[in-house]
Amino acid sequence: MQNLPIIDQSELVIKPLAEAETIPSSWYNSDDIWRLEKEAVFAQTWQCVGRQSQAARSGEYFIAEIASEPLIIVRGKDNILRCFYNVCRHRGGPLAIGSGCASHLQCKYHGWTYELDGRLKGVPDFDSVAHFDKTAFGLAPVELAVWEGFVFARLVPGKPSFNELFTGISDRIGKPGLGELQYHRRKSYDLKCNWKIFVDNYLEGYHVPLVHPELMKLYDYHSYKTKVREWYSFQHSLLTSAENIYSSGAGEALYYFIFPNLMLNILPGRLQTNIVEPIDAERCIVHFDYYYVAGTSEQQIADDLTFSDSVQVEDIEICELVHRGVRSRSYDKGRFSVKHEEALWHFQSLLKTFFRDAVESKRTPR
Ligand code: FES
Ligand SMILES: [Fe+2]
Repeated sequence: MQNLPIIDQSELVIKPLAEAETIPSSWYNSDDIWRLEKEAVFAQTWQCVGRQSQAARSGEYFIAEIASEPLIIVRGKDNILRCFYNVCRHRGGPLAIGSGCASHLQCKYHGWTYELDGRLKGVPDFDSVAHFDKTAFGLAPVELAVWEGFVFARLVPGKPSFNELFTGISDRIGKPGLGELQYHRRKSYDLKCNWKIFVDNYLEGYHVPLVHPELMKLYDYHSYKTKVREWYSFQHSLLTSAENIYSSGAGEALYYFIFPNLMLNILPGRLQTNIVEPIDAERCIVHFDYYYVAGTSEQQIADDLTFSDSVQVEDIEICELVHRGVRSRSYDKGRFSVKHEEALWHFQSLLKTFFRDAVESKRTPR
C-alpha cells in the first residue's frame, strides 16, 4: 500500500468553465497519479466489461479486467448474469483464462470447483483441514448491471447508481436502440500517451478543422454543439447535405462520453464504442467495437472501417505529440474554450471530484 500522492489542494478546486484552468501537466505522466486513478476513479465507476451476448446461455462465461483486477462474468443455471473476481479462494488461481461454457467453474491451479453462482463446490484432498467452512469460501462477487446489451461492473459500490449514469441517453438516441445493433468487430489501438490525453481530445470538436480535414467535410460544423449532464457529456452535429458514406444527406453524428472512459460514437445505422484502457501513466489501449443496423452492406461496413481508421490515425498522431508537449518543462496548465471545450472541463472537473473524495476519505491506492 502506498500513500496518496501529494496533490496541492488548490488543484482540486473546480472553477466555472470561463475561469477554469486545465489539470496540471504532472497529472499526465505521474505514476502516483495513475495509481490514484486506479483506486479513486476506475475501481469506483461503472466499467463496460463486455456484451450480454457474450454470455447469452446458462454456463457461458468470459473474462475482463478493471483496474488490474481479474474478473469473470458468467451466466448461472438460474439464467442470472453475475460477475466475480476471477480469483480462487484457495491461493488465488484463475477460474478461467478466456471465454467458454461450463456446468461449473474449476480453478486452473489445484482444481477447486465452484457453482456458476459462485458457491464453493468441490475441494479435492482437503479432508483433514481444521475449521474450514466451505460456505465462507465462495467467489467474491462484483456489482454487475446491463444497459442496452452492454455489461458493466463496478468494484466499489458508491455513486452514481447505475440508472443515474445513463439518464436520457436512450431517449435522445431513439430508434433503432443501441441494443438492437449487431456487433461486427473490434479493433484496438496502442497509444503512447496518457489515457486522459485521448479522452481530452475526444471531448472537443475544436481540433476537427485542423486535424481531421476529411471528417470536417462530413459535418455541418456551425451546428456542432456540446452538452454536459451529470455523469456524461455529448457532442452532436448535423451531417452536411452532401451524400456521404453514412447517409444521403440527412442525419446526425452523436458522440457520448460516459465518465471516465466510455465513448459511444453514433452515426446513421452504426455505433462505434471506444473503451479507453490505461496501461500505465504513459500508455493506453483504446478498443474500438463496431456495431451496425441489420442489412448494412459489406461495402458500407468496409468504407466505415477505412474512414474511421484514417480518423483514428490522425487522433493517435496528435495525441502522442500532445503527450510529449504537456511533459515539456515549458507547460503546466492551459485554459478552456467556452465555445468548444465544455465537455473537457466537465471531464476534468469530475476527475477532480473523485480525487477530492479519495483525498478526503484518505483512501490509499494499491
Ligand atoms: S488456487 Fe485454486 S485450487 Fe488452488
Ligand atoms: Fe479527433
